[in-house]
Amino acid sequence: MNTPTPIIAANWKMHKTSADIQPFFNAFADFTLPENAQVIIAPSATLLHSVQEHAGKLGIAVAAQNMHQEAEGAFTGELSAAQVIDTGATHVIIGHSERRHVFGETPEQLRAKVNAAIAAGLTPIYCVGETEAERDAGNASDVVNAQVREGLADCDQEQRASVIVAYEPVWAIGTGKTATPELAQEMHAVIREQLPDNALLYGGSVKPGNAADLFAQPDINGVLVGGASLEPESFIDIIRASQ
Ligand code: PGA
Repeated sequence: MNTPTPIIAANWKMHKTSADIQPFFNAFADFTLPENAQVIIAPSATLLHSVQEHAGKLGIAVAAQNMHQEAEGAFTGELSAAQVIDTGATHVIIGHSERRHVFGETPEQLRAKVNAAIAAGLTPIYCVGETEAERDAGNASDVVNAQVREGLADCDQEQRASVIVAYEPVWAIGTGKTATPELAQEMHAVIREQLPDNALLYGGSVKPGNAADLFAQPDINGVLVGGASLEPESFIDIIRASQ
């Protein structure tokens, strides 16, 4: 199923401080957010509150970039679902490839995070994607299918359908090597077989110049944008490309 409302999500990663927030949103003053678009911004934890103050007025949702699976406790440096919700955020990115590959988060942890997010009322943006070596070995579909299966294993049907899934091939993230729209669509079609009702986002070097071709694919319901979401002008151009 193709969701009618395209989703444009920004992942700011470990960029920006509070001084950058007002100037970023100033650029939205002359831009009317299309009614038929859901925009989400995922800033660092320190910025969740201040981004929410600006974004809320514009109808833009806010996401945390990560959370811990436990409700509270001795987990220094971590953020619980309740703490994420306390900032006004409604979404949380789980299993970004940097969490999987740089920080070594395991499928079991990610499944627990998905469960905890849903139980708390957050919408997970659950990321999957193969590495270059896995693709070269011909395993891209198997890897991605397994990641989807593992992450959503404990969800009932309604919970499963509520999860936003982002396909982000690791070799395309921050590298300038976008998957071609055809390749992205091919992988989205693979995921679609498991998740007929979910919003499926593509991520990996999405730019104003390639966004429209990605949105045009039947199983791509939106994009998760890293580098090109840091400048409001290019992010706004990507939002425009969704229409
Ligand atoms: P990129 O990052 O757009 O800079 O490739 C995407 C992501 O990691 O979510």
